[in-house]
Amino acid sequence: MRIIPNNGTGARVLDVDLSRPLGEADFDALVQALGRHGVLHIPRQDIDAPALSGFGSRFGTLEVNVANMFHAPGHPEVMILSNKRDAAGKPVGLGDAGQGWHTDMSYSSEIALANVLHAKEIPVRDGVPLGSTQFLDMHAACADLPPEIRARIEGRRALHDFEKFWDMVRVRPGSLRPPLTPEQRAKKPPVWQPIIRRHPITGRDILYCNPGYATRIEGLEPAESDAILEFLFRHQMQRKYLYSHAWAPGDVLMWDNIGTIHNAVADYAADEPRYILRVQVMADRYATELAA
Ligand code: SIN
Repeated sequence: MRIIPNNGTGARVLDVDLSRPLGEADFDALVQALGRHGVLHIPRQDIDAPALSGFGSRFGTLEVNVANMFHAPGHPEVMILSNKRDAAGKPVGLGDAGQGWHTDMSYSSEIALANVLHAKEIPVRDGVPLGSTQFLDMHAACADLPPEIRARIEGRRALHDFEKFWDMVRVRPGSLRPPLTPEQRAKKPPVWQPIIRRHPITGRDILYCNPGYATRIEGLEPAESDAILEFLFRHQMQRKYLYSHAWAPGDVLMWDNIGTIHNAVADYAADEPRYILRVQVMADRYATELAA
């Protein structure tokens, strides 16, 4: 297996076949590469839902989203992300996943370590693949924080609210998302997360804050909290932290959900099919490091 760093965030992983179990040395190398590079692109794979599940579960427990209607048959942990519809016109997958900058599961007290996606169909227009997934490097964003901002947020937490992102996506034209019911809302209360936290693989500080879910900073007056959050959201969006992944069918893309934030670009139409399998790996295997 070869790991070839991009110029900036991300790396390509070559000479590996994910339809077969990885040896321990390769697995350890992938864990380290995930922390160091943030996004791992493993091209030319052809795996089914059980194999994707088996690969992802080596890194931690796979999340099963109880509200998820769109999963691979017999595999509730393998979610289908797609804008396709069946013969009766019903959606076969979640069509608007991740469309806005966020970190998966930052709204949950148990956070996610990684996502692993496997592309089956990717929309292409005039020879150009659409529906890229973009990433920003939160190791670098943290290292670059101005000292006066760092001093204000060091040791503080931000409140992360599931409903913020849900409503942001829901109000877009054509969204199929209903408002959250009081019962759904009660199941996902906002949670506090440290704004700067130690990354469990690299041991370095990262900025754990994202515009999708973070709503306020503890211990600050609302005006200062809003101003600092706005600063952090602008700061983390700088192009120098960006990697944009242009998908090809067969790609496996694994990303670090602690050291990066991401955004799914919705630049394709309803009749341009996209079909991707996804598992989400919880950070339970690395809980000790996170608690430190
Ligand atoms: C996600 O946020 O997990 C979805 C990303 C994508 O579909 O590109």
